[in-house]
Amino acid sequence: MRGVLKYLIGGVAAVFAACGNPMEVTSPDGDISVKLCVDETGAAAYTVTVGGRTVIAPSRLGIAARESEFSKFEVASSRRSSHNETWESPWGENKSHLNRYNELAVELRDAEGMNNGVTVRFRAFDDGVAFRYELSEPDSLTLTDELTEFRFAEDGTSWSIAGSFETYELPYREQAISAVEDANTPFTFCVAGIYGSIHEAALYDYPEMVLRRAEGDLGFVSSLAPLPDGVKAYIAGRFTTPWRTVQIGHKAVDLINSSLIENLNEPSKIADTSWIRPQKYVGVWWGMHLGTQTWIMGPRHGATTENAVRHIDFAVANNIDGVLFEGWNRGWENWGSDQRFDYVEPYADFDLERIAAYAREKGIALWMHNETGGNIPDYEANMERAMARYAELGVHTLKTGYAGGFKDGYLHHSQYGVQHYQRVVELAARYRIMIDAHEPIKATGIRRTWPNMMTREGARGMEWNAWSEGNSSEYLCTLPFVRLLGGPMDYTPGVFDIDYSTAKADKGRLKWNGDNEHCCIKTTLARQIANWVIIYSPLQMACDLIENYEGHPAFAFFRDYDADCDWSRALQGEIGDYIVVVRRAGERFFLGAGTNGEARTISQSLEFLTPGKRYTATIYGDDTSSDDPEDYIIRSFEVTGGDTLTLELLPDGGAAVTFIPVE
Ligand code: NOJ
Ligand code: CA
Repeated sequence: MRGVLKYLIGGVAAVFAACGNPMEVTSPDGDISVKLCVDETGAAAYTVTVGGRTVIAPSRLGIAARESEFSKFEVASSRRSSHNETWESPWGENKSHLNRYNELAVELRDAEGMNNGVTVRFRAFDDGVAFRYELSEPDSLTLTDELTEFRFAEDGTSWSIAGSFETYELPYREQAISAVEDANTPFTFCVAGIYGSIHEAALYDYPEMVLRRAEGDLGFVSSLAPLPDGVKAYIAGRFTTPWRTVQIGHKAVDLINSSLIENLNEPSKIADTSWIRPQKYVGVWWGMHLGTQTWIMGPRHGATTENAVRHIDFAVANNIDGVLFEGWNRGWENWGSDQRFDYVEPYADFDLERIAAYAREKGIALWMHNETGGNIPDYEANMERAMARYAELGVHTLKTGYAGGFKDGYLHHSQYGVQHYQRVVELAARYRIMIDAHEPIKATGIRRTWPNMMTREGARGMEWNAWSEGNSSEYLCTLPFVRLLGGPMDYTPGVFDIDYSTAKADKGRLKWNGDNEHCCIKTTLARQIANWVIIYSPLQMACDLIENYEGHPAFAFFRDYDADCDWSRALQGEIGDYIVVVRRAGERFFLGAGTNGEARTISQSLEFLTPGKRYTATIYGDDTSSDDPEDYIIRSFEVTGGDTLTLELLPDGGAAVTFIPVE
């Protein structure tokens, strides 16, 4: 029998006790270490220590396949290596990445000598650890489970969303680790002052991993999204699972400043990336969520030729790169019913050719939108024809959406879903199209390998403010430490009409939230500006109705903002409480600071500025003398890297600062 991997482990804690000689790999700076042990019963487990303190106690390793009937393993061989390189990406929070780690690859084989074995590859970085399973050419395997555990050595605090295989648009829970029943990843924690986050990297051809409570208070076992027949994954040939990752830091912001997830992905498969570029964009979008416009053609249709021209002109006047149109194509009548959209034919009042020509003439990127409603077979049958058409029109940006259940019992985050999302990315690359995916699979750093996979949703975005209780400022202070550890998010920040007064005045036709007592943005306006910096996305939207920016001096921030940053640092922050982030694009710096429901005075050293240079700092901040969240102050003055900035934030408030070199 060629089956490989059924590790059935009894008392896990006993594993290490019984195992005299664990193999260890330590991070280059010596702080973090992983140990692997295989005991006499053939059970394998690992531990993680930080500064000598055990964070992950003995936790078993293994995957189970239908073809496998045995469970006794021994170490066949092991290899050590070290890696130290700097690599460049065409875009990102940072364009230069240090990838430095020590590696231990252990080949396990069946003690009875009847199988191909599995290699478990561990990497210890200065900012965390990772491991994955590598199968050496089984003919095919029917994976029924992954047995990877994460057993905490002691209790602590955690921040996570619940472990759904269908959606990530869930509220955060701050809970004791011991109180968590299930969680999706990134699963962020703090144990004895050590911050960490469990996630996965390079998720391909395999279902996503959710954490479920294992026996005992402090343990989780990986739980994979199943296919309709209950199997987790069908695999064939040489196969490597995604990396199981634990990012580690001594401050909460260290997690944000880590490149571990991207480092664990392969280099770019796209040779010429000249067509891939960060953008700022506006769009016909928020009106539909407010209910004042429709996706469907009709008297309140958003995507009309006239409105398109108005948006393109606005983009030109405001140094904005692109314009998104939702509801431009036929088929929205079927959203929520048979989910059949036409991805090529525009509605009669949207003159696609004329709009594309006008956008080209004005140098504005035209974004197409493909809502699939989750109808994957239909989308797969039509997406190539659609992308070919978009390429013909000069379109390089596509927002996709999966708002609806998949057909035939498939789950969004199953192997089927993961494979579909990936097919879209790879096909888009062939047509030189960048992807912004909504209702996506989680971000696991594949942007390194597929740099046209720009951004994605995968958490509660701005839209939730239009038709639910909305996103609190505490939620916004949690997002960077949890969801964003996976990669960029298309949150779509930037509502200036905080109380929706223009929409409400719009003949009282608010469809969904007219009677919604929660209806309004739960932050100050200045915080909306700060979110453009804090919530990183290479495609960054100013999402409000464009008329709401007219006459607003504070919109100068977005005009000046450069989405194509070179370097970023999370400077200070605590999960759920506050956050300060700075990004450099060329010679200019942009800083964003945000707080939760508490007012806060932020004192921030400017030592990140280039030494010897003088800058004009312009603060867009809360007006602390007003209780109207739409009021703000703008103040400019000269600074150098030797200065310290003080920012006064209102409850739910924030501040954004531009630093422009003085000529
Ligand atoms: C949900 C997406 O998140 C949102 O951005 C989009 O407008 C709607 N689906 C319609 O596709
Ligand atoms: Ca969504």
